[in-house]
Amino acid sequence: MNKSPQVNVLYTREQIEATVQRLADEITHDYSKKKPILIGILKGSFMFLADLVRYLDFPLEIEFIRIASYGKNKKTSGKITAVQGIRTEIKNRHVLVVEDIIDSGLSVNYVLEALRRKKPASLKVCCLLDKMSRREITVPIDYVGSPVPDKFLVGYGLDWAEQYRNLPDLCYLEDEKP
Ligand code: IMP
Ligand code: MG
Repeated sequence: MNKSPQVNVLYTREQIEATVQRLADEITHDYSKKKPILIGILKGSFMFLADLVRYLDFPLEIEFIRIASYGKNKKTSGKITAVQGIRTEIKNRHVLVVEDIIDSGLSVNYVLEALRRKKPASLKVCCLLDKMSRREITVPIDYVGSPVPDKFLVGYGLDWAEQYRNLPDLCYLEDEKP
């Protein structure tokens, strides 16, 4: 029988909120006069982006790109597919990609390559969580929320097999015993 894995809190909602506010301050400093386009990578970034933009009190636009790579596994398949792109013209615009977590780096690299071809005026990355010990490819990250250990995380938008996205705290799943 499948037992549900144990869910433990890594960062509370209050800790996440403080991190999001700090990122918003940095982004405000750099973008308040630039009318940027923030592009969230679905689905994982939906909660982070929604909270982040509430602290950004200047003109901006919001878009989403949807990619898929994980399926039901806890490791990236390495194969990224664009499920839904953006229609808005980003040529000569300041673009900030908003991601929940960067792990191998393959997903954000895929998105950056696709966006770069559209010739934005600038292209930067903001991620809430950085699982840097697992990086397979170097990606520039301009705004980093918190480093995270090499554990499988869920909550605050992150899922395991589409479950747990709605948890308000950032949690990790206890490793299953063999
Ligand atoms: P990467 O391509 O390996 O960098 O993986 C990035 C994507 O995988 C993120 O956008 C997340 O949606 C997902 N991901 C990476 N690590 C985790 C995790 O610990 N829990 C849930 N999703 C994750
Ligand atoms: Mg994601």
